Amino acid sequence: MILEGKKITVGITGGFTAYKAADIIGWLKSAGAQVQVAMTASACQLMSPLMLQVLSGNPVATEVMDSSGRWKASPHIALAECDLYILLPATANILAKAAHGIADEIVSASLVANHAPVLCFPSMNVHMYENPATQSNLQLLQQRGWTVVAQSSGRLVDDAQIETAIMEFFRRSQRLEGKKVIVSAGPTYEFIDSVSFVGTRGSGKMGYAVAEAAAAAGAEVVLVAGPVALGDPHGIRVKHVVSAAEMEAAIAEEYGDADIVIMAAAVADYRPQQAVDHKLKKGLAQRQLDMVLTPDILAGLGRQKGGRLLVGFAAETDNLEQYAKGKLAEKNLDLVLANNVSQEGAGFDVDTNILTAVTADNIEYFPKMSKKAAAEQIIALVAELLDQRDK
Ligand code: C5P
Repeated sequence: MILEGKKITVGITGGFTAYKAADIIGWLKSAGAQVQVAMTASACQLMSPLMLQVLSGNPVATEVMDSSGRWKASPHIALAECDLYILLPATANILAKAAHGIADEIVSASLVANHAPVLCFPSMNVHMYENPATQSNLQLLQQRGWTVVAQSSGRLVDDAQIETAIMEFFRRSQRLEGKKVIVSAGPTYEFIDSVSFVGTRGSGKMGYAVAEAAAAAGAEVVLVAGPVALGDPHGIRVKHVVSAAEMEAAIAEEYGDADIVIMAAAVADYRPQQAVDHKLKKGLAQRQLDMVLTPDILAGLGRQKGGRLLVGFAAETDNLEQYAKGKLAEKNLDLVLANNVSQEGAGFDVDTNILTAVTADNIEYFPKMSKKAAAEQIIALVAELLDQRDK
C-alpha cells in the first residue's frame, strides 16, 4: 500500500470544517501512515486534541513552547520531519502567515521549519477566498511548490478528493524511485582571455525546475549547472561548471550508472580556439577571433547510450517539429522538447515556457505554462517512456 510507513504531518486550523481532518487522519492511519498532528488554538476550540491523539496514536501539538517532554525536539521541528505536510483545513489566516513566514503559533511555526512538500486544502467563505490578498498568497505558495486543492467557491473539497490528492502525491513522488538522473542547466561561457568570454543566453530556470521535479519524483538527481544566478536546490547534488568542456567532463563522471539524462543547458556551439591566460590589451581597432566547435555533449552521450533514456531541448525560431525530429534521430534521443524562442512567454530568462514534446512516434503540444509546471510534464513524459520500455 502506497501510504505504508509514510510520515505525514497534518496541520489543522480553525475553519469550521476542521472536523473533516478527523476522518482523514483515521483513513491515513488505517492505510499504514505515521501521522503527527498540529492544531491552532481555534482548531482546538472546534475539536478536541484528545480525539486526534487517539486517532493518530501520537501526542497532538498545540503550542510551540511545550514543557511536557513528549517531543524529542521542539514540537514545531519534530512536526517538520515528514514526507508530506497536509494543511487541512487551511484558513485565509494560515495562508497569509505561511506566505510571509510568520511563525506565531504551532501550525505556522512548523510550516516555516518544514522542508517537505505541502498539500493544502483551503476552506473558507467565498469572499475571504476571492479576496485579492488570499488569492495572491495562494499564488505565491503555489509558486514555491505547494499543491493547492480547492473549490472555486473556497469551500473544502470532499473526502474522496482529499484522499485522491494524497494518493496521487505519493504515486507521483515514487515515479522515478531508484533512478539516477543527470540534468544540465544554464548557459556555458567560453573564455577569450582571463576576463572576456563568448557565451549563450540561459537563466537555468528550466533545468533547475526539471531537476527539482525529478527529485520530487523520487530520483537521485545530479544537476550540472553552468554559470547561473540561482541558489542550489535543497536536497540535490549540484556540480558547478563554466565551459562546455567542463560540462562534458562533469557529466561523463556521472554517466556510468545514470539511467536518464536531461540536457536543458544552452551549451555554446563554438569556443575561441585559443584562450589566453592574461587580459588581452585593447590597442587594436579590430580583432579577429578564431572559433572552433565545442563537443556536442548530448550527441556524444547518444553514441554510448546503452539502456539509458536521453532527453534534449531544441530552441528554434522556425520549423520546430522538423528540427526536433531531426535532432531526435541524429543524437539518438528518446524525447526532444522544442520551444520557439521567438514566441512571447517561451525560452530564455522568462518564468514560463511553451513546449512541444517530440518522440519517435508522437508529437504533443503543451500550452504556455510556468517552467515548474512544464518540468512536471517533462518528468511525467519521461516516466511514461520508461514504463513503455519496461513493458
Ligand atoms: O543541436 P542543438 O544545439 O540545437 O541541440 C540542442 C540540445 O543539444 C540541447 O539539449 C543541448 O543541451 C544539447 N547540446 C549539447 N552540446 C552542445 C550543444 C547542444 O549537449 N555542444
